[in-house]
Order: sequence, then structure tokens, then C-alpha cells
Amino acid sequence: MKKISHSPEETLQLGESLGSSLGAGDIILLFGDLGAGKTRFTQGICYGLELDKDFYIRSPTFTLINEYPGRLPIYHIDLYRIDDHEEIYSLGLEEILYTRGVTIIEWAEKLRSARKPDKLILNIQDRLEINIKIISDSQREFTFTSFSPEPRSFPDFTLL
Ligand SMILES: Nc1ncnc2c1ncn2[C@@H]1O[C@H](COP(=O)(O)OP(=O)(O)O)[C@@H](O)[C@H]1O
Ligand SMILES: [Mg+2]
Repeated sequence: MKKISHSPEETLQLGESLGSSLGAGDIILLFGDLGAGKTRFTQGICYGLELDKDFYIRSPTFTLINEYPGRLPIYHIDLYRIDDHEEIYSLGLEEILYTRGVTIIEWAEKLRSARKPDKLILNIQDRLEINIKIISDSQREFTFTSFSPEPRSFPDFTLL
């Protein structure tokens, strides 16, 4: 499923619509270049999860994992500065991936297994992958791909 956003505000709305549909244990993987809008979209997801709008969302570059109090605990991870899989393993992500919250990971490219690019490390299977492509200064193309053995309902992004 694809969707074009024409502005940062539209990206925020797109995220918000997704966020309101999420449930405990959901994993959102964000792919895309620097400035694509991963953090902006994350902010929208957080608002959709009823996080207070005064809450300032920014990439957890130094802490690596931020936790926000939405209607479910939200874990926001940015792997930009991570160099290898060893470092990812040392973060102890399994503990948060398989619990009660919603996990959002920026730079999910870094989770791809080197030998099998269609596989992700940490045994991540069920997830929603979102690829954000920069089309122009203000336009972004979002591609949503759900990986889940059971059918599940995400919002109909074509209606936004
Ligand atoms: N349609 C759009 N959606 C999201 N961001 C946009 C859009 N158009 C322009 N931008 C700008 O792109 C930048 C995206 O930043 P950010 O969300 O931090 O990206 P990333 O986390 O992917 O590096 C912001 O400066 C934002 O204003
Ligand atoms: Mg970011």
C-alpha cells in the first residue's frame, strides 16, 4: 500500500491515524534516508496513541531508546548511530519487543541480516514495515508492508 504525503503536517496525520489503530506488542519498522520524515511520522504515531501533544518527540540519538507514556507504553528507537549487530544485541531490545508496548524503530535497515537480507535479526517476524522515500522538498512516498501470519487491520491509508 502506498501513500503520498505532501507536507510535514500530512505526515503527522498519517502517523496519527496509524497510531490510533495500534495494539500491545505491535512493532513498526521505519526505513528511509536522513530527513525522510521518520521522526515526524513517529510523532504522529505517538499522538495517535494518545500521548500528550506537549510531549516533544525527537530521535533518541544518544539514549538510543526513548519511552513515552501513551495509552500503551511507546518505545522509540533510533539505530542511526549503531554500527553492527553486536551493538544492537547489547541494547537488550528483546525485552521491549515482546512485551506490552508499541515499538517504533528508525533506521530499521540496520536490522537486516547480512546473509539473508529478507530476514531480520532479533527474530523479528510480525511487524509493519514503512518505507519513506523523498520525492521532493515537501513530498514523501510512504510504502506500507505488513508482515503477519494472521490477517490484521491497519487503517485504510487510501482514505486519508
Ligand atoms: N511531507 C513531509 N513529511 C515529513 N517531513 C517533511 C515533509 N516535507 C518536508 N519535510 C521535512 O523533512 C524533515 C523530516 O525530518 P525527520 O522527521 O527528522 O526525518 P528523519 O527522522 O527521517 O531523519 C523535516 O525537516 C520536515 O519539515
Ligand atoms: Mg529521525
